[in-house]
Amino acid sequence: MTTTDLYPELDTALAVRWRELNARLADIQRRYPDAALASSLAAEDMVLTHALYGGGPDLEVFTLDTGRLHAETLGVLDAVRERYGREVTVYRPDAQAVERHVAQHGAYAFYESVDLRKACCQIRKVEPLKRALAGRGAWITGQRRAQSTTRGELPLEEDDKTFGLYKFNPLAEWSEEEVWSVIRALGIPYNPLHDQGYPSIGCEPCTRAIRPGEDLRAGRWWWESSDSKECGLHAGNRVISVVARAE
Ligand code: ADX
Ligand code: SF4
Repeated sequence: MTTTDLYPELDTALAVRWRELNARLADIQRRYPDAALASSLAAEDMVLTHALYGGGPDLEVFTLDTGRLHAETLGVLDAVRERYGREVTVYRPDAQAVERHVAQHGAYAFYESVDLRKACCQIRKVEPLKRALAGRGAWITGQRRAQSTTRGELPLEEDDKTFGLYKFNPLAEWSEEEVWSVIRALGIPYNPLHDQGYPSIGCEPCTRAIRPGEDLRAGRWWWESSDSKECGLHAGNRVISVVARAE
């Protein structure tokens, strides 16, 4: 049976991509049975969720609910439950740490400085991620090389020295068009904000719609320079691109 016969909804090139992705995920499962997908509930992560919860290699999917996500993003949790009959595990920030930060700096301190923005990401994303990853051998992300300057060198797999485990970026080589072709062909549920000018979605106050022709991540922390636009989940990315530029 050819690859196209196996995936009749996909054209040949996409069927090959999809088969490769499933093989990669099966390999991850074999090497790290406790690996999990970190899902922001955005398009790339839904492609991976479909592969993992839709009958392929079965690995856990979790999300970090920062407490500042759009209602539409949280709605994707219901869409996953309805479509796959499976839950996405939700990790939340430490309530006291959030309260302290807000009492000291206000609820919108991230607009004031990069340091305060990073402090908020640390409390709402990085610390919960550490809890989500504790005890696991590996994690999986939906990052792609074409997403930003800091991701141009993104490897398919890497030793994540920041969090002390292995890390897989199985969609590293995928284009935005491939992501959306697979979503449409397989009827994968997705965040409705993507249809409203949001190619990249993070927390509500730190994400806005982009204008035609703008960079995919132009709507993320739009008041900061493009080199600082990582929130601490993928701290290794920037190091790689800085080293690459220095050479
Ligand atoms: S971010 O670092 O700027 O926020 P981005 O939104 O592009 O990242 O997402 C890249 C990858 O980081 C996602 O594919 C996902 O693996 C992970 N990620 C980002 N935000 C979250 C989140 N809230 N919960 C879980 N994983 C996330
Ligand atoms: Fe805080 Fe914005 Fe970071 Fe979300 S993206 S954790 S609201 S600074």
